[in-house]
Amino acid sequence: MTMAVPSGVACIKQGAEARVFDLPTFLSLPQGCIAKERFKKTYRHPDLDRQLTNKRVVQEARSLYKCKKAGMDTPTLYFVDMNTATIFMEKISGITVKQRLLDYQATQYSGVDFASLSKYIGESLAKMHSLDVIHGDLTTSNLMIRETIESVVIIDFGLSYISNLAEDKAVDLYVLERAFASTHPNTEELFESILSHYLNAYKNSKAVMNKLEDVRLRGRKRSMLG
Ligand SMILES: Nc1ncnc2c1ncn2[C@@H]1O[C@H](COP(=O)(O)OP(=O)(O)O)[C@@H](O)[C@H]1O
Ligand SMILES: [Mg+2]
Repeated sequence: MTMAVPSGVACIKQGAEARVFDLPTFLSLPQGCIAKERFKKTYRHPDLDRQLTNKRVVQEARSLYKCKKAGMDTPTLYFVDMNTATIFMEKISGITVKQRLLDYQATQYSGVDFASLSKYIGESLAKMHSLDVIHGDLTTSNLMIRETIESVVIIDFGLSYISNLAEDKAVDLYVLERAFASTHPNTEELFESILSHYLNAYKNSKAVMNKLEDVRLRGRKRSMLG
């Protein structure tokens, strides 16, 4: 069975690998639906491209399902069409953490509740890592704030994989730390607070935090070498 995005639907986001569509009346779902379609990259050999695309679709669908099943607030998976490399999932009503922080950057984040935000992000990451899901691309545009209930939703699992290694989890956190540092000035305290919630909420977090120190050191050395 295949399921295509109806023609004429506007794309809401076009990334390097995928287009995201908003289908408000699709499948008679009251809250609407998001279709994420990975397109062909002509600069890659067609076989390799197909292989990589399939892998990402499968990884994204698997991780969405695994996280949801374990009680995390991630988009509900509705349908996967391997022919068109499209995932149909719940539409999260809300905005990305990136957008929220950018909206309030000029006023030193006056309208952002840092205490709740760091708690929700830290606890979601803790839960995800306790399932051995490594996200692989943690940025503030891959974290969404739900409008209706108080929650942060992790999205964009295309580069995710399963690992129980503290090192892999530390790199995941480091990627997010770099994303905060490069996109959102003066959020060091916010990130520290995210880490402290992560520490409290995840039983193996101590090992991850130790590794995080190593990963940071390596990062600094690399940037000194240029
Ligand atoms: N389930 C969803 N609900 C609402 N918005 C979404 C959803 N999935 C993606 N988006 C929006 O589309 C953007 C791009 O989607 P994402 O899965 O991160 O793909 P990309 O690989 O292009 O980064 C997100 O930053 C978010 O704004
Ligand atoms: Mg993304």
